Amino acid sequence: MEIKVSNDVKNLAVDVLVVSMFEGEKTSQELANTYAIDRDGFKGKLGQTYLLQTYGQIPAAKILVAGCGKRDEFCENEARTVVYKSVKKLQQMYAKTAAFDFEAGFDYGKFGTIGAMLADYAFDKYKSEKATRVDEITFGNVSEESVKAGKTFGNAMKFTRDLANEPAAYATPSKLAETALSLDGIETRVYEKDEIEKMGMGAFLAVGQGSVQPPKFIHMKYTCPNPKKRIAIIGKGICFDSGGLDLKPPASMLTMRDDMSGAACVLGVMSALKEFHPEVEVHGLIAACENMASGSAYKPGDILTAKNGKTIEVDNTDAEGRLTLADALVYACELGVDEVIDIATLTGACMVALGTAAAGIMGNDKDMVNRIIETGKNVGEKYWELPMFKEYFDSLKSDIADMKNTGSRYGGAQTAGVFLQEFVKDVKWAHIDIAGTAFLEKPEKEFIKGATGSGVRTLLSYILNS
Ligand code: BES
Ligand code: MN
Ligand code: ZN
Repeated sequence: MEIKVSNDVKNLAVDVLVVSMFEGEKTSQELANTYAIDRDGFKGKLGQTYLLQTYGQIPAAKILVAGCGKRDEFCENEARTVVYKSVKKLQQMYAKTAAFDFEAGFDYGKFGTIGAMLADYAFDKYKSEKATRVDEITFGNVSEESVKAGKTFGNAMKFTRDLANEPAAYATPSKLAETALSLDGIETRVYEKDEIEKMGMGAFLAVGQGSVQPPKFIHMKYTCPNPKKRIAIIGKGICFDSGGLDLKPPASMLTMRDDMSGAACVLGVMSALKEFHPEVEVHGLIAACENMASGSAYKPGDILTAKNGKTIEVDNTDAEGRLTLADALVYACELGVDEVIDIATLTGACMVALGTAAAGIMGNDKDMVNRIIETGKNVGEKYWELPMFKEYFDSLKSDIADMKNTGSRYGGAQTAGVFLQEFVKDVKWAHIDIAGTAFLEKPEKEFIKGATGSGVRTLLSYILNS
């Protein structure tokens, strides 16, 4: 879909002219006022639409009145939702061109563009019959810059969703490395297995040792002359999580190609940075491997030594994400950055606790956690902080090593959080658990089934505001 800007949208000969309507107000379009409002009593509640034919009275063939709800409650997130709903409607009508004559009262170009691109998204590359799409939309009453920013956000989300939706046979650790190396304006170094061994990443290596796909440690870097801040973002990169020898049951394994959604998020964010050239140094890190069951797989009872020298007794091979993140966290801390954020499809427990509505967040710096939560609110992603009481570590105590990789079934998201904290030193750190939000089993809100690009908008905005 092409997205353009015009200051004369009312006079475009498009298939559909989309006009905004706030509850209790008139629209910018006389026909809409006459038919939708005066005759049929359309109220313009948020997300509702009303369609009418124009029969040659204006250049557009049809008018779609988009309900925007109450004007004083209409902000950027609502603008995104209304544009999303309108584009979905346009697709159902097989419209090919449309123009948006919204009187939002603010520049809705960025969020409108994101909404349009979310509506345009389909993972149909393997389908013979492609999704119905709108070819071109034009926004009125917006700036070129805001639409450009929206496109960068939209493209980053699409990039992440495509990668996470791909079968594991395609999105292998090598593919993630190749993708990282292909990013414009980003310096990337990929560490191969022997180098990962030399770095002492015994926890990460153990997870990947059961797979025929070689592990890759990926370090992407975005730099600028005088960075105001240095941030590392780490994405869990388990390209397939079979559970390992503690094999998952079929129903749980089915979607485990999504276990690299954190990595895909980091790649999406890195792919967008050069468009904004923020004055921040950003390190994107991914310990990519597969967690497989085989003759060479790591075993329950094995003792692993992480990069910081701490030893871990393997209690359950399915708690693999935290092992790979442990080594990545140590690596990130050694970079001497100001802040580290890891994002991971880490625990089913987080999904049980928060559902698909919000991602879990934990950390060692209240202010940083709050800033991430706040950023999320502004861009339409929800986070809920979970506690990191030291009691959660009790169940991780091991008789033969410094800790076990799993503890009590209860409070599983927090147990994972306190486990990760063992590998964080002298840095502000936040951990985001997107197990519930990264991949949907059915369409929800502005997402089709499958990958959502969870975290992309938040992390990108967080970096840009740093
Ligand atoms: N990748 C899973 C977590 C997950 C579950 C993500 C559902 C998305 C949807 C993770 O590696 C895992 O298997 N976690 C275990 C941990 C347990 C063994 C302590 C879990 O949550 O069951
Ligand atoms: Mn697992
Ligand atoms: Zn996993």
